[in-house]
Amino acid sequence: MASIPRSQALDVDSILHQLTEEFEVSPDRIRTIIKQFNEEMEKGLDHEGATVPMIPSFVTGRPTGTEIGRYLALDLGGTNLRVCEFELKGKGKGYSVHQQKYVVSDQLKTGEMRHLCDFIADCVDNFISERGADHLEEALQLGFTFSFPVLQTDINRGTLMHWTKGFNCSGAINKDVVVMLQDAFLRKNINVHIAAIVNDTVGTLMAHTYLHPETTIGVILGTGTNACYYEKLAGIKKWKSEKKFEDMVVNMEWGAFDNERRVLPLTLYDNKLDRESINPRQQIFEKMISGMYLGEIVRNAMLNLVDQWMLFDGQSSSELNRQWGFETAYMSTIIADDSPALASTQHVLQDILMIPVTTTIDDRKIVKHICELVALRAARLSAAGIGAVLSHTGDINRPSVVAIDGSVYEFLPNFETNMITTLSELFGHSIEGRLKLSLAKDGSGFGAAIVAMVAHKAALAAAASS
Ligand code: BGC
Repeated sequence: MASIPRSQALDVDSILHQLTEEFEVSPDRIRTIIKQFNEEMEKGLDHEGATVPMIPSFVTGRPTGTEIGRYLALDLGGTNLRVCEFELKGKGKGYSVHQQKYVVSDQLKTGEMRHLCDFIADCVDNFISERGADHLEEALQLGFTFSFPVLQTDINRGTLMHWTKGFNCSGAINKDVVVMLQDAFLRKNINVHIAAIVNDTVGTLMAHTYLHPETTIGVILGTGTNACYYEKLAGIKKWKSEKKFEDMVVNMEWGAFDNERRVLPLTLYDNKLDRESINPRQQIFEKMISGMYLGEIVRNAMLNLVDQWMLFDGQSSSELNRQWGFETAYMSTIIADDSPALASTQHVLQDILMIPVTTTIDDRKIVKHICELVALRAARLSAAGIGAVLSHTGDINRPSVVAIDGSVYEFLPNFETNMITTLSELFGHSIEGRLKLSLAKDGSGFGAAIVAMVAHKAALAAAASS
């Protein structure tokens, strides 16, 4: 049987051009996105059940830098589970930290919540015995960074709304996750009290504010994406409890923005990813921005070209055919590859992805272009989210600092520059003088320890006065 001839219909420049058009997010589109974002934020602040839920975090006010003491922090929701012990030393002196990482297996991520809690409890137990803190009389106070959408009812109470980022444990939705984990500590006689549950964005904001009080927004651009910011009491219209604060940090859960698909420029590659994910039609914004998904979008775009004989002479490999087979980390290597023959790109394609033909320079150019476009689109959409928050608070016209953590922001080449370019395109160049995007590396654990400390002291003071 004669083989199908390689399509001659498109030369490499046409392919590159076509891809550029598919992944483009024009300034007009970004303006529409920001407008829609602002409407969704208002809905979330007004009532429960909105797509962008705008969750009050029960964290009020800013840390003062005078916080002192020894606190544990637990960080679940990224690649690893981290257990940390912080010694807060007071103003100007910062803190010291001991920490240990534990791998959470896929089986635990998708098994029963009770098993996950038992695993976390074992890790905490192991950590505190190694630190020699397992025989203390008083309970150790812990800040629990749990980076999923939790509808909080207090500083250390909250029910899980739904899972994200590949977690899917049974028996957790609509349950209080603090109660579940505290029960696991009890079952194993671990003398630890969960003083606060904190989203990673909130932890990041707190940690950065501790050193830079002018920080106004905390953003995660990592495995998942989300943001939080200080909202005025009057702005949180749905807040019906005691009104004894000026402003409170609101965890936006912006990953769910536009689940209705009104304004985001979804391509067929995004739709394929979404349909095959464990949470179809959820976290649509997150799926266009965060590290868990970007590589998969690139993979889908590559396979589409392979199937049209426009890439790798129509050949794929079992590695490239496998869902999640193209990691977002490869994008960093490929985007950073400026060698004339695109040697690192070739290495990824031939030695890691085992593409069965020798790739041509055109193949490598196309792959690099896809990686750059997917990363650029993510940076522009992230900038749109930040622009929407700054417009909402009015900080767009004032000096402000945005604390950002996460592998996408830290490791994808040019990500920050592309975000800043997008923001100046929208709000004028002068924004570059007012706005500082600042890497807040691993801040969420420290931030959780600060929140635990404030919550613990408040609980002691309340007990003393009653
Ligand atoms: C979660 C957020 C979290 C973000 C970044 C999202 O999937 O819903 O709670 O802040 O990931 O980790």
